[in-house]
Amino acid sequence: MASIPTDRSPDSSLALLREGYRFIGARCDRHGSDIFQTRLLLRRTICLRGRDAATLFYDADRFARAGAMPLRVQRTLTGRGGVQGLDDAAHRERKAMLMSLMTPTAIRHLGQLFDDEWAARLSRWEQAGTVVLYPELGRMLTRAVCAWAGVPLAGAQVDRRTADLRAMIGGGAAVGPGHWRGLLARRRGERWLAELVDRTRRGALPAPIGSALRVIAEHRDEQGRVLPRRIAAVELLNLLRPTVAIDRFIVFAALALHDHPTWRHRVRDDDTATESLVQEVRRYYPFFPAAAARVRRSFDWRGYHFPQGRRVLLDLYGTNHHPALWPEPERFRPERFDGHRPNPFGLIPQGGGDHATGHRCAGEWITIELMKRAVTNLTSRMRYDVPPQDLAVSLRRMPALPPSGFVVTGVRRTA
Ligand code: HEM
Repeated sequence: MASIPTDRSPDSSLALLREGYRFIGARCDRHGSDIFQTRLLLRRTICLRGRDAATLFYDADRFARAGAMPLRVQRTLTGRGGVQGLDDAAHRERKAMLMSLMTPTAIRHLGQLFDDEWAARLSRWEQAGTVVLYPELGRMLTRAVCAWAGVPLAGAQVDRRTADLRAMIGGGAAVGPGHWRGLLARRRGERWLAELVDRTRRGALPAPIGSALRVIAEHRDEQGRVLPRRIAAVELLNLLRPTVAIDRFIVFAALALHDHPTWRHRVRDDDTATESLVQEVRRYYPFFPAAAARVRRSFDWRGYHFPQGRRVLLDLYGTNHHPALWPEPERFRPERFDGHRPNPFGLIPQGGGDHATGHRCAGEWITIELMKRAVTNLTSRMRYDVPPQDLAVSLRRMPALPPSGFVVTGVRRTA
C-alpha cells in the first residue's frame, strides 16, 4: 500500500487562512499528486483534487457528512441540523423537500422578481451618479428571495437582514470580529424565521401555497412529524443566505464583462453565449474553496488507504482550475463551454454529482438563472462607465470579492 504524501507541518490551519483558495492546489503541485494528507484544526485531513477524486468524494457509500464540517462553519455558515450534515434516508427525504421548490416555474418566478428589482433600481442608478454594485445587488437579492419564499420583509428591515445573511457567509472563514458577527447573525436569523414558521403553522401568516416558507413549515418526515422550528429556520436560511451570495458571482460577471468587452456584444440576444459566459464565471472565479466529508468505513483507492472517520476535503476551486481538465485553466475563455455540457464531476463550483441524491448544491439552477438575468441586464438594458478602482481579486481572501465592490458611473437605461 502506498502512503499518502504528507505535509510536514504539525498543523496547517494558519497556512490555509493565509493561502486561501490555492492552499490545496499548491500542495498538490508540490507533491506531484492530487491527494495528500495534512492536519487542519488539529484533525488529520486527506485533501483531494480533480475529476476522479470528485467522483470518489460523491460516492455516498464511502463518505458521510454528519460531523464532517468544522463546528465554526456550522455555527455561522450552514447552521446545525440542516440538510448539509444529513446522510442516507434522512438526507434524501430533506433534499427532496428542498428540490421540490426548484421547478422551472418557481425558478422563472424568482428570476422575474429579480428582474423587477433591477428595473426599479435602474431609475435610481440613473440619478445617482456613482453606484457600487455589490451592496446594491445584496439588497435586491434579499428582497427578491424573501418575496419568492413567502417571507414578509418590511422595507426598513432590508439592510439589516442583508447584512446578517452576508455575515453568516463571511463568518465561517473569519477569525475574531468577523466570526462573532456571523454567530450573532445566525442566532438572529434563526430566531426571525422560526417565529415566521410558528405563525405559518398557526395560520396567522398566510404564506402562499407552494412558497418555501409554507412548504418547509408544513413539511412532514416519513414518521409524519413536522420539522422542529429551529431546523425549519435553518432550512429556510439555506435558501435565503446563498441566494443573496449570488451577488458575488454577479460582481464577478460584471468584472468579466469589463475585462473581456467583446463578450458584452457576444452575449446580447444570445442565450447560448450568455450561458457559456456564466459557466466560465462560475469556473474561473473563486467562491467556495472546498467541500468536506468523513470516511464511513475504511477502504483503499488507487493504492491509498482511507481510514474510517478520517476527514476528507475536496478542492472545488482547484478542480475547476485543474490543468488536466481545462486547457489553459488560468485564462477566462467562455467559448470552452460552447456546445459542451459540463461534466458533473469536472465543473464543481457548487459541488459535484447528482442534485437529488447527493449533496450537490440545491440552488445551482437558481444561481445560473439569476446570473444570466444579471448579465442580460448589464449588457442589454443599461450602459455604464467603469472608473479606475481596485478590482484585483485576491485568492487569499475567502470569500473573494474585488475590494471596490465594482463601482459604475453614468448609468443610463438602454431598453
Ligand atoms: C452563490 C452561489 C452558490 C454557491 C457557490 C454554492 C455552493 C455550494 C456548495 C459548494 C455546496 C456544497 C456541496 C457539497 O457539500 O458537496 C452547496 C450546497 C448547498 N447549496 Fe449552494 N451554492 C450557491 C447558491 C445556492 C442557492 C441559490 C441555494 C438555494 C436557493 C443553495 C442551496 C444549497 C443547499 C440547500 C445545499 C446543501 C445541499 C445538500 O447538502 O444536499 N445554494 N452549495
